[in-house]
Amino acid sequence: MTAPEPKVVRVTAPAKLNLYLHVVGKRADGYHLLDSLIAFAGIHDVLDVRHASRDFTVEVIGEFAASVPADEDNLVLRAARALAEEYRLEHGAHITLNKRLPPASGMGGGSADAAATLKALTGLWNLDPRGDQLLELALQLGADVPACLMGRAAFMGGIGEELVPAPTLPPAWVVLVNPGVEVPTPAVFGARSGPFSQGARFSEAPADAARLAELLAERRNDLTDAAVAIAPEVGLVLAALETCPGNLLARMTGSGATCFGIFPDVGAATQATMSLARSHPGWWVKVASLENDTGKLG
Ligand code: C5P
Repeated sequence: MTAPEPKVVRVTAPAKLNLYLHVVGKRADGYHLLDSLIAFAGIHDVLDVRHASRDFTVEVIGEFAASVPADEDNLVLRAARALAEEYRLEHGAHITLNKRLPPASGMGGGSADAAATLKALTGLWNLDPRGDQLLELALQLGADVPACLMGRAAFMGGIGEELVPAPTLPPAWVVLVNPGVEVPTPAVFGARSGPFSQGARFSEAPADAARLAELLAERRNDLTDAAVAIAPEVGLVLAALETCPGNLLARMTGSGATCFGIFPDVGAATQATMSLARSHPGWWVKVASLENDTGKLG
């Protein structure tokens, strides 16, 4: 008789988008207070998590493997260790991270991977976390980790820990463009200047992509100017997206450098993707659905 296959839990870590991001204040510890609408895109990293007797190890594969160190700073390892400590478990795990999204790019990246690790290990170890236990652990790993853990469209407040479900977003497509420049989040927050913005939440569930774009056009990503000052390519990406036929709105996500264009249909979005990839061979360009709820993604 052959031994049973060791159990593997596969989870996805979808790209997070800040549909708008207002910086509304600053805490004494230097963290910024935000008002942001978070949604997700149907494109993701993939994590496979297996039992291991003691230690935690991570192997990074995929298109962007080279940019992610598999050392102690890796957020996936930190998430795994934090969860084991929280439950005083002696288990280890081996995690394979298929890095398909560009790192340090405003799409959640390491935060999404950390949140996915918490989910996968909760399943692998049959844990039953109480209420906010995982969210509290998530916040210690990074300001975006709770939103990625919640995995559904939400208004984000505080530094990232206050999450309120958003109205249902309409079917829409996004074209994601990263110019291949990594912009460190602390540098972008540090370079932001000017007065703080007001919160700008809305209660309407936009009827279609055009209405969503109208609502977002009245809002901004307050980190855009700072990101452009550090990486002028961000300005080129926004301008290129704005010229694509069918594009309703172009914005940067998070602290950049990835930007997204919103499109009402997959045909126009695919055309734009092909045309941008052709005109800018050095850019990472992908088409994806806009998602309300990552629980429905594969
Ligand atoms: O929490 P995370 O590691 O994702 O944040 C990286 C850095 O970005 C922080 O150290 C801080 O400089 C900046 N940041 C901020 N305000 C936030 C989130 C991040 O100033 N709400």
